[in-house]
Amino acid sequence: MNTALSPDRRADLVVKEMTLSEKISLLHGTGMEGLSPISPLATGSNGGAGYVVAIPRLGIPAIQMSDAAYGVRHSGDNGRYSTALPDDLASAASWDLDAAYEYGALIGRELRDQGYNMSLGGGVNLAREPRDGRTFEYLGEDPILAGKMVGQVMKGLQAQHVLGDIKHYALNDQESGRNAVNVNIDKRSMRESDLLAFEIGLRESNAAAVMCSYNRVNGDYACENKYLLNDVLKKAWNFKGFVLSDWQGTHSAAKASAAGLDHEEPGEVFFGEELEKAVKSGTVPMSEIDDHVHRILRSMFATGVIDDPPHRGVVDIMRGFEVAQRIAEQSIVLLKNDRSQLPLDASHVRTIAVIGAHADVGMLSGGGSAQVDPPGGNAIMPPGQGRTFWQAHIWFPTSPLKAIRAKATSAKVQYNPGTDAASAVALARTADVAIVFAHQWESEGMDLDTLSLPENQDDLIAQVASANPHTVVVLETGSPVTMPWASQVAAIVEAWYPGTRGAEAVANILFGDVNPSAKLPITFPKSDADLPHPALVKPPKQSTSDPADPEPWRAIAKGLPAFQIGYDEGLKVGYKWYDAEKKEVLFPFGYGLSYTTYSYSDLKLNSGKNVQLSFRLTNTGSRSGSEIAEVYAALPASAAEPPKRLVGWSKVKLDPGESKNVTIEIDPLYLSIFDVNKDGWELPAGEYTFLVGPSSRNLPLKAATQLQ
Ligand code: BGC
Repeated sequence: MNTALSPDRRADLVVKEMTLSEKISLLHGTGMEGLSPISPLATGSNGGAGYVVAIPRLGIPAIQMSDAAYGVRHSGDNGRYSTALPDDLASAASWDLDAAYEYGALIGRELRDQGYNMSLGGGVNLAREPRDGRTFEYLGEDPILAGKMVGQVMKGLQAQHVLGDIKHYALNDQESGRNAVNVNIDKRSMRESDLLAFEIGLRESNAAAVMCSYNRVNGDYACENKYLLNDVLKKAWNFKGFVLSDWQGTHSAAKASAAGLDHEEPGEVFFGEELEKAVKSGTVPMSEIDDHVHRILRSMFATGVIDDPPHRGVVDIMRGFEVAQRIAEQSIVLLKNDRSQLPLDASHVRTIAVIGAHADVGMLSGGGSAQVDPPGGNAIMPPGQGRTFWQAHIWFPTSPLKAIRAKATSAKVQYNPGTDAASAVALARTADVAIVFAHQWESEGMDLDTLSLPENQDDLIAQVASANPHTVVVLETGSPVTMPWASQVAAIVEAWYPGTRGAEAVANILFGDVNPSAKLPITFPKSDADLPHPALVKPPKQSTSDPADPEPWRAIAKGLPAFQIGYDEGLKVGYKWYDAEKKEVLFPFGYGLSYTTYSYSDLKLNSGKNVQLSFRLTNTGSRSGSEIAEVYAALPASAAEPPKRLVGWSKVKLDPGESKNVTIEIDPLYLSIFDVNKDGWELPAGEYTFLVGPSSRNLPLKAATQLQ
């Protein structure tokens, strides 16, 4: 307990005192219903997804893990509340590093108040496949944006003395067949895309843990993949923390341990008795076990969970709600605004038609292990029955109808659920403005078949738009959606799954109390046909668990037969694909409108030690606003890269008429390519072109320089 010693030294002192069975007890969880046998010791669990027993003799506390992607999961089961922030993809749309820190800090505080000392959030899989049902849990399609954002979330979280975790390492980019799929991808592509997001996130934050994913990568399960775990994560990146398997992602004892897996969740199918026996028989050396244990203990010391353990308290959701609303307001993207349809003028508008499923009571959230139980329960269930269960569609009780009525106090605001298009159209026809709330639900454990809106919503929107030229569409989606009606409506707002205070945030945007500033962290393509994989690869029957099997975990642990996905688009993830393939898109990466306008001028480039760009940004409109100015680089032709990549950005607040000089320094890593022969990063010599502007497809400033 000598805090003057380093975390590594303190961990060493503890390891020296431990018996083998104490060591093994730290290397696995205590089970989970349906996923693995439950240990009698699980009674000490706080009710979260993971529980690792304490070693009281040595003063080592239990690790109480809770899922916490956009807020603490499962509070309802414990009779508690937690704040639901806007989903992770939404937070990435803010491009705001301070907001990301605040996002993590809020989750950290609420975890502690509920007695947890480890978070299982930090999803940062790149959106290679935007129909992935977990796209809302991740941070978009760009490794630098996603990596920087997750780094800040982890910093904010760990500053609360909670162990952070980044997941799912790696390339678990679709849910279909996740326990069986073998992802085939070349090394350079994975290092420069999916793995780079993790590399940056870890470099920025020293997150305590990395969760390895369910899938196989180039032949080996991610949780027993020596290349991913030992060679890249632990050696190349010098990661000091520990690797825990996703829930049932462990498939062996000796192989996984040697490859670099430190901890099995949720139970001890392999890392209990079997691992202990392997040590006793000499198959697994004690030094390997000591390294696993050391990594867990040093992370506990470094993060402060031993010196400052959590105490259960009252969750301050009032403060949480304020933070959630502020971040939602920074995350909502204005995609279209013809003839300044928005903001609505509350003093002029006389009649408003609010149309769309449940827009009278709530806004949608994403499901699965990320699901937060909203205070008040599921808005679409009878009072008192607001239970959340696996893959139930949960609508947070934040009512767009009420929030709009609260703004337009002198207007007649009427609601129609849109289930009968004819009656919705009749209402829209009589209104000054029609606001259609459209949704696309998604969750862990499923993928979307298509990016089209479900339940005839495209048709509903088109019909409403033909009845009312002042139609505004508000989207509640976790992934991009296609919009065959885009040219027919006056305005489009992407609200994502906006969290506990979503409706208030949306109303503030619609009525101009908040000037939108968010930009897309993911491309909205015109159609599924434009995606790198027009159809999602589905698993054959034998690669999924048998629904009749009462203990499916056994077959999963043993290993379901693999099926293959080839990520042969390689480096071309997201906008890099559309750029390289010269495809038109619906709304490009980095795009988002404001109620004011900005101009970019006077680019100067200084290639000293690091490249530095400075330019002038002016608010040319009549409202204050924040502009996210983006910098992209085109690498020398010899690098054989996609046309350009994001290498920096700055979010700048400007009053009407105000100008600021913006300076952005470019991290050399962001300009580098991964050289497989040398097994390292390399800055290719040659001419680099830098492009600056408001979105990936609108880059008015340009300058080039020779590097090396
Ligand atoms: C998910 C993880 C989650 C874990 C524990 C798994 O199904 O993939 O993201 O942390 O369950 O709930």
